[in-house]
Amino acid sequence: MKKEIKIKPFWYSDLWVFPKLITVITTLDKHGKVNAAPYSHIMQWDVMQKNPRIMLGMRQGSHTLTNIQETGEFVINCPPMDYLDDMMETARFYPAGTNELDNTRFTQIPSRKVKPPSLQECPQIMECTVEEINLLEKSSGIVIANIEAIVMDEELTTMDRAERLTTMNLPVGLGDHQRKFYYHTSTSDYTMHELKDAPDSIQAADVRTNLDWDEGAMKALMGIPAPVRKLVIKEAEDYSEEQGSQIVTLDLFIAMGEEFGIDDELLDRFRV
Ligand SMILES: Cc1cc2nc3c(=O)[nH]c(=O)nc-3n(C[C@H](O)[C@H](O)[C@H](O)COP(=O)(O)O)c2cc1C
Repeated sequence: MKKEIKIKPFWYSDLWVFPKLITVITTLDKHGKVNAAPYSHIMQWDVMQKNPRIMLGMRQGSHTLTNIQETGEFVINCPPMDYLDDMMETARFYPAGTNELDNTRFTQIPSRKVKPPSLQECPQIMECTVEEINLLEKSSGIVIANIEAIVMDEELTTMDRAERLTTMNLPVGLGDHQRKFYYHTSTSDYTMHELKDAPDSIQAADVRTNLDWDEGAMKALMGIPAPVRKLVIKEAEDYSEEQGSQIVTLDLFIAMGEEFGIDDELLDRFRV
């Protein structure tokens, strides 16, 4: 039998289980002093390359949000499992102006595009600048920020996902009991499942289009994974018609990709 439960403050980690990314966010206060604290209320906002952005939620009045409001910059550091104690140390309520990192094993290193430091021991790091802050009434502050740099340990960049997951060994937050006891698992504990093609997905021999496609555009379409071809046909045909063309040409196809912010590396695959 199912039971409806009361929606309380912090509903997301009351009875409801909401596994999340564990991060330590580093900021500078207006005097240039470092602050660090864990944050998990974090989600992608704009996923395209043109204007990549991330969204974070934080308690109003927290040192992190105050620093972000005052300086417009922060760094998201993802610590590995072995550094959970250090991450928890940065969660303690220290007075403003205290550098929580002094009580941890984390090593501060310069960031590339922003002033707050990055943490050496974190295998993946994101440097951000603020675009917009939305202060919800009697609730959190929501920060939408531009992603200025994504920095990873170099050896991770050539690994396949399975090896990268175990090598990084990132903690996954499983919520807390009474804001005191925090539960975690890790990315080493994973399974993999293959996504099967949609029942109506397009096979090479079975491409149905409404407009004519030139040879280059059709070849480019075939370079796209079958499950998303139907979607791409619609996008490309809508785009071509908007541009006043009843034919989808390779040039239009590439121009559409550029407008979506798809990068050169991906587009190169279509330039025949
Ligand atoms: C694993 C973990 C995740 C947390 N995530 C958030 C979060 O997403 N938003 C938030 O407001 N507080 C979060 N907290 C609580 C803050 O880290 C805590 O209030 C901290 O003292 C804030 O420090 P600051 O004032 O230096 O920013 C989290 C704590 C832990 C341990």
